[in-house]
Parts: sequence; structure tokens; C-alpha cells
Amino acid sequence: SWTTGNVIEEQVAAIREQVGDKRAICGLSGGVDSAVAAALVARAIGDQLTCVYVDHGLMRKGETEQVEKDFVAATGVKLVVVDAEERFLTALKGVSEPEEKRKIIGREFIRVFEQAQAEIIADEGPAVEFLVQGTLYPDVVESGGGTGTANIKSHHNVGGLPEDLEFQLVEPLRKLFKDEVRMVGQELGLPEEIVQRQPFPGPGLGIRIVGEVTKERLDLLRDADAIAREELTAAGLDRQIWQCPVVLLADVRSVGVQGDGRTYGHPIVLRPVSSEDAMTADWSRLPYEVLARISTRITNEVRDVNRVVLDVTSKPPGTIEWE
Ligand code: XMP
Repeated sequence: SWTTGNVIEEQVAAIREQVGDKRAICGLSGGVDSAVAAALVARAIGDQLTCVYVDHGLMRKGETEQVEKDFVAATGVKLVVVDAEERFLTALKGVSEPEEKRKIIGREFIRVFEQAQAEIIADEGPAVEFLVQGTLYPDVVESGGGTGTANIKSHHNVGGLPEDLEFQLVEPLRKLFKDEVRMVGQELGLPEEIVQRQPFPGPGLGIRIVGEVTKERLDLLRDADAIAREELTAAGLDRQIWQCPVVLLADVRSVGVQGDGRTYGHPIVLRPVSSEDAMTADWSRLPYEVLARISTRITNEVRDVNRVVLDVTSKPPGTIEWE
């Protein structure tokens, strides 16, 4: 019968068999799938696995620390963290167009990841022949099977590497659905914040700031987002909503009054949605008291924000994210 214990035992044996005495690498995103895949592989082959986490500076408050500290503490995994915030912010300077932002973030991400990968490969030790991926069963079905290898074009300015590195894929979650992955992660002792994490887009807060992405704006949005998440969790609503993007309208200002004077600040948008698969979604009917608490706290605690608005658009016609 299906138990998480059996799945773990079976996968650990299969991974050992597949990888042998070679090395593997795995990119961590902060999300559930890559974390559980990495934890399983770490359980199987220990320090033959190296994980890479690219900190693009677009994560929410506490997320990078969760990976750096809590994930490592729970798994004992060997982790390389690349602090690339400045590089991403420089590349994003002056850019407001959503698709352009996405392209830049995607491009920089691959460059930074490949560079880190090249450094690991150049280390002494057994050959790095395997790439771990958190592919789930629905991904396998959607892509019609999958091939089991990945061609990673090596970076031009890294000497001594073949033009095309071919990795074999290790995909220990290929037979699992999301809820099963969470159970396996829990059994492996991963932090609750990672195992129960709601969907969060790869480009991070970069696509939740309408307008230019700057450090200042990111910090502001991070503070507002942290308050919203805290209150939703405190109200016990995490399981009821699919996710709740918090969006900064950085180029919009409105007049307000606070304390003794007039303010001229930015609005924050709350976008709580209910969904089964993110293909369609409805706006979540959150209790007014919870919305009120979030609004009061954000306008009181986050400087330069003087208004909180609620997005009541379903998908379609609105997408879940604003960009
Ligand atoms: P939309 O905005 O298209 O979002 O309704 C649907 C779901 O996908 C997430 N999303 C992304 N996830 N990389 C990701 O990994 C992305 O570029 C990306 N864009 C949107 C979004 O958070 C929602 O869950």
C-alpha cells in the first residue's frame, strides 16, 4: 500500500542505483518541488549532491533565509548560495514592461546558475553527471513522457568545459501529485513554511511591482507582503486560498491624510484568489475583519503606502499575477 515511508525508501534505493558514485546538482527555487526532490536525493547520496540557490533579490521576506538556514538544517545538504541581487537590479534598471522584465530575470537566472554549476563541475571529485529536477506526475503527463536527459549549454566565458554538457535527469517525484509531494517533504522533516508554501512565480516580486523594480520598492513591497501573509496565516486562511499576490503600484500616487498632515503615497493591491489549478480562478471572499486588519497594518507600518485596495476580478479575464 502507498505510504510516504515506502515512497521514500523506494526512491532512495532507486537514486543510489542511478547515481552510483558520481555527483549530482540541483537548483533550489524556494518552492516545494525542488526542495523535496533535493531532500530525497540528499537522503540517498549525501554530499555527492550539491544544491544551488540563486538569490535574485526578488524573494519575499524570510524566504532566502528559509532555504539557507532551515532547509540546510533539516537536510544537511551541501548548498551554494549565489547572492546576485545587485546583478539582477542592475539588469532591471529602467525596465517597466512586464514581458521585458520576465525575459531579463529568466536570462540572468540561467547565466548565474550556469556559472555556479560550472564552478561545481570544476571542483575536485567525481564527475557531475546528474541534474535533479522536481518534475511531478502532472508535468510528466502534460509533456507527453519526457526523455530523461537535459542539454545545458555551457557558459562561454568558463574555460575548459565542453560546449554542451549532457546531464542525466534524476526525477524522484515523477510519480507523485502535489499533495503527495508535501507529505513526503513533511516526512523528510522539511520546514512547514517550505512544505506548505503556496505557488510563487519564478520572477518573484519583480512582476508584482508595476513600474520599475528598485531595491527601495522591493523593500516596501516585501514589508506589505509580509504583513498580509502574517494576517492570513493568523486567521487560518492559508488552506482556503490558492495564493494572495500583493502588488505595488509604484507609479501611482494618491492623496491621503495621516497624523497631522497630507500624504501622497502609493497604493498596495491585495489579490487573494481561490483556484484548483491556476488556469481559472475566482477572487476570494475574505472576511472583512481580516481585510481591515491587513489594510490598517499596511498603511500604518509601511512607509509611503497610504492606500490598500482589493482586486475583485476573476480569471479570466484577469490573470492571477498583475504582470
Ligand atoms: P497567472 O498570472 O498567469 O498565473 O494567472 C498562474 C499561476 O502561475 C504562477 N506564475 C508563474 N510561476 N513562473 C512561475 O513559476 C512564472 O513566470 C509565473 N508567472 C505566473 C502564478 O503565481 C499563478 O500561480
